[in-house]
Amino acid sequence: MPLAEVIQHKQLGCSNNHRFDQAKQGYYNLLPVQRKKTKEPGDSKEMIMAREAFLDGLHYQPLADELTSIIDELSVSGSHILDIGCGEGYYLRQINHVNRFISYGFDISKPAVVKAAKKHQKGYYAVASSHEMPFQSDTIDVAYKVYAPVNDIDLYRVLKVGAYFINVTPGPRHLWQLREFIYTDVREHATQDTQFTGLDKISSQQLRYKITPSDTDRLRLLEMTPFAWKADEAIKKTIFNASELSIELDFLITLFKKA
Ligand SMILES: C[S@@+](CC[C@H](N)C(=O)[O-])C[C@H]1O[C@@H](n2cnc3c(N)ncnc32)[C@H](O)[C@@H]1O
Repeated sequence: MPLAEVIQHKQLGCSNNHRFDQAKQGYYNLLPVQRKKTKEPGDSKEMIMAREAFLDGLHYQPLADELTSIIDELSVSGSHILDIGCGEGYYLRQINHVNRFISYGFDISKPAVVKAAKKHQKGYYAVASSHEMPFQSDTIDVAYKVYAPVNDIDLYRVLKVGAYFINVTPGPRHLWQLREFIYTDVREHATQDTQFTGLDKISSQQLRYKITPSDTDRLRLLEMTPFAWKADEAIKKTIFNASELSIELDFLITLFKKA
């Protein structure tokens, strides 16, 4: 059991003899107050609620399907899968559809983890940081992250030899039409060839499609991204009132393997 060490039902422990009880909502808080850099780290409750409602509209379903199909085809001997910066757990719930894996998700945002744990009671969810992952070394068979940070040395540590890691990052034209409302000079996202210490790149693919979200979903999409901080009320009103708006989604999906 890689998530720290289960010492008894609903309690986790670590090698330093710390004990963590499961919260009543079903998650573990592994981020002690003294380790928090801010009072409420990670995405806010408002961002999480916007993301949850937007994802419920299935606009990112093709990405979930693609991730599921990549993972289904991997040949892995073990069954521990990890979503790094899992948010409210949208992808992990779907990837685990056949119960092939024991699922672990963590995020530094407590409101995100509370939601994830409530929605997926078979999964193990924790409030924790990707800079110091709450896992024993060499325990994870498949890890992935969708638009979340990771410390690559710690990533290398938790993966088993032969384990896979999938990195999803924004492609050059991700949310182009939304960004046009905010920036006068919209630039393509730079797509540097990110390397991860000790991991070999196996393949890379781009997933592109367009969505036509409702007026309310457009605002939710804005609220769940950092673009929201740049958009004043006038911009939000224009986005809401725009006649049918088609928005490009552009994802880069890169598969790595620990040699
Ligand atoms: C863009 S959101 C993506 C959430 C989720 N992967 C999804 O696609 O629905 C990025 C997430 O990373 C989390 N995050 C940011 N810094 C983190 C850290 N150091 N450790 C763990 N999670 C972090 C945020 O709280 C947020 O939920």
